[in-house]
Amino acid sequence: MKDAFLVSMEAQKAHYSYEDWEQAAKAVLAPDAFGYIQSGAGAEETLSKNELSFRRYSIVPRYLRNVSEFDYSIELFGDTLPYPVLLAPVGMQGIAHPEGDLASARAAGKTQVGYVASTVSSFSLEDIARSNSIGVNWFQLYWSNDRNLTLSMVKRAERAGYKAIVVTVDTVTLGWRETDLKNKYSPLRLGYGKANYVQDSYFQRMINVMDFEQVDIEIAKQINHPSLSWEDLVWLKEHTSLPIVLKGILHEDDAKLAVEKGFDGIIVSNHGGRQLDGCGSALSALPGIVKVVPANFPVLLDSGIRRGADIVKAVALGADAVLVGRPYVYGLAVAGEKGVKDVIETLLQEFKVSATLAGARNMEELKSIRLMLGDFV
Ligand SMILES: Cc1cc2nc3c(=O)[nH]c(=O)nc-3n(C[C@H](O)[C@H](O)[C@H](O)COP(=O)(O)O)c2cc1C
Repeated sequence: MKDAFLVSMEAQKAHYSYEDWEQAAKAVLAPDAFGYIQSGAGAEETLSKNELSFRRYSIVPRYLRNVSEFDYSIELFGDTLPYPVLLAPVGMQGIAHPEGDLASARAAGKTQVGYVASTVSSFSLEDIARSNSIGVNWFQLYWSNDRNLTLSMVKRAERAGYKAIVVTVDTVTLGWRETDLKNKYSPLRLGYGKANYVQDSYFQRMINVMDFEQVDIEIAKQINHPSLSWEDLVWLKEHTSLPIVLKGILHEDDAKLAVEKGFDGIIVSNHGGRQLDGCGSALSALPGIVKVVPANFPVLLDSGIRRGADIVKAVALGADAVLVGRPYVYGLAVAGEKGVKDVIETLLQEFKVSATLAGARNMEELKSIRLMLGDFV
């Protein structure tokens, strides 16, 4: 009889596609935790658009170009990444695996993809940075209504060696998450997203005057920030030396404002269909946005990246890099750090195969790959 470890290793090897990992994660997670990760907002119209949008575009490959050597590296804010891939900020990772963000960040470092740590991570930003001391870390900021708390976290990120601040602009209030409402499930209220708050000296001073049980309620109050505006972001810019990337941009005019106001990059994203249901896919917003920003202005994309060919399509439509969300969280749920590593390695392998088969040897050639629209099955 095979021992349990061998059996589980063999089972893990069977997970190649996103769908395999999703099913395996569903099998190991409690239904409410899986529902939190998998679901989208409202009727999940946007969630399904994200994935379907990639199929609207067909790659028109070029052949006979000697693709035996390639280099898909990119430079972002002074760091070189061998592939145009980062792990998207995902909060509450403790619901997927006890090692949560620490395991994901380590896997990111070992596979040389960038790691974006969430404000509502299950471990503090300092612990995450230590866990991925070999890699490139960015810090995703959820605005706090108290500017001093916002700034305190940004300063901690600077001290911990983060290379950029990613301000998420599409979550001024939480999306209408029907699955979580049905399940009466809030990982924030269960304490999975509080590490950065409880370890913040400013926040500690705030809650000292309160009953300790008020911590989760206070976090929820800080994080719900409908008043967020460009003035706040301009203020932040004046208070940090780090580049600021705006995550959640879908409108050309907002992209133009980001450039005009001196921000350093944007992530075209609809939060994986978890915020405004009914908005379009991130991919469909990308070409219009790329047109209105300068060529050297970093434009990244997330929401719906599942396969290597999706990365090719996103870059061909003008993205400088992509971020991946749910796929790595499923890997984390199934096998911790190893699962995340497997997911990333598979994705990168498939990306290399797709890029070379499309006839592109570098990012410039990838950007000029022709896509045909409307060949929809
Ligand atoms: C479980 C989960 C938690 C997330 N938490 C955050 C977060 O804390 N901050 C944030 O900016 N985005 C968060 N996101 C959105 C991701 O950063 C990313 O935009 C999205 O997952 C990309 O879509 P994909 O899952 O289709 O790849 C989360 C997504 C998921 C699935």
